[in-house]
Amino acid sequence: MKSNTEKFGKAPHQPSLWTRADALKVHADDPTTTQPLVSADFPVLSNEVFIWDTMPLRDLDGNITSVDGWSVIFTLTADRHPNDPQYIDENGNYDITRDWNDRHGRAKMYYWFSRTGKDWKLGGRVMAEGVSPTAREWAGTPILLNEQGEVDLYYTAVTPGATIVKVRGRVVTTEHGVSMVGFEKVKPLFEADGKMYQTEAQNPFWGFRDPWPFRDPNDGKLYMLFEGNVAGERGSHKVGEAEIGDVPPGYEDVGNSRFQTACVGIAVARDEDGDDWEMLPPLLTAVGVNDQTERPHFVFQDGKYYLFTISHTFTYADGVTGPDGVYGFVADSLFGPYVPLNGSGLVLGNPSSQPFQTYSHCVMPNGLVTSFIDSVPTDESGTQIRIGGTEAPTVEIKIKGQQTFVVAEYDYGYIPPMLDVTLK
Ligand code: FRU
Repeated sequence: MKSNTEKFGKAPHQPSLWTRADALKVHADDPTTTQPLVSADFPVLSNEVFIWDTMPLRDLDGNITSVDGWSVIFTLTADRHPNDPQYIDENGNYDITRDWNDRHGRAKMYYWFSRTGKDWKLGGRVMAEGVSPTAREWAGTPILLNEQGEVDLYYTAVTPGATIVKVRGRVVTTEHGVSMVGFEKVKPLFEADGKMYQTEAQNPFWGFRDPWPFRDPNDGKLYMLFEGNVAGERGSHKVGEAEIGDVPPGYEDVGNSRFQTACVGIAVARDEDGDDWEMLPPLLTAVGVNDQTERPHFVFQDGKYYLFTISHTFTYADGVTGPDGVYGFVADSLFGPYVPLNGSGLVLGNPSSQPFQTYSHCVMPNGLVTSFIDSVPTDESGTQIRIGGTEAPTVEIKIKGQQTFVVAEYDYGYIPPMLDVTLK
């Protein structure tokens, strides 16, 4: 089959830019774009495991789906080690902070189920040990394919390298719970190409991960969003007029911001099943602004494309900053142009008094936003913290044109289904 470039003679679109001028409009603690304070006495889902990125089961149109009345979520998960000598400090206490910070290296996909859309019960690991080709099973998306309960789990196989992969299995329900069966053969889909998306050889701190497949409501084709960095050797990127945007006098200096090169990538499937993919140029780039635009995802509303992505304070470039949280952009068509929501892009950030309280927000089509608790201060000075590794309270936002507003807060980990599928 012809590539898009061959078909159209040129790239089908120009990436939209999140500029330094846009980012200068980011303001922490605006109540309409700030997550309510998470109390330090939060409940934990499990004393055996930490969980972080949460991936609700959904269909290709984005609807959060329950099966036979059971809600299902997948989570990145790692064992807690309260008795492991490796995590006992010199005073004989469990160093939970170090255990938590090490979790990425042993991340595995687990699933949970619930009758109520909260109070999740642990189902177990999705893939048996040894099925996934790499040490780390990083974020992605579980897709319910049909009434037979077939599920395609797209995820990122990391270390060595970073490959977007998928594995097919099936969800099975009984009156008592849910199990995942199959998930035995992992199929590699694609890796960064070094031409559009930065490779490990070009930058050891590259990002290439977090697949989010979807059916475009307008052309009906199968696409996938993912996180990337703009191709090129580390340090070689130019932060020019376009990347700077319309800044006031005195804000022209870009410092070392050429090292921050995040982008939201997109690929199109060449087949119906999503086994054969072609990467396209990024939808959005943040060169000179931020180094990570993680877990990109869409909400399709009012005929518009609302593109959301999570990012951190520590990944912002010189001279710009913003809270950890979820950022958003809107366009009238899939390939843009995208403009930042709320002028700046910030949709839901952590309050500055609790800068690490939550992360990895996922905006669902019903306006509910799920995230996990990272750490919450337990004293005034913020030096004592309580580590989370569990679900945060769900927040509701209202999306209106190019603006968003925080309007409500619900229970911890509340992820209600939008539709239920009865399995055959
Ligand atoms: C977001 C994230 C994802 C990645 C995973 C690794 O919290 O950084 O981008 O897949 O966590 O643990």
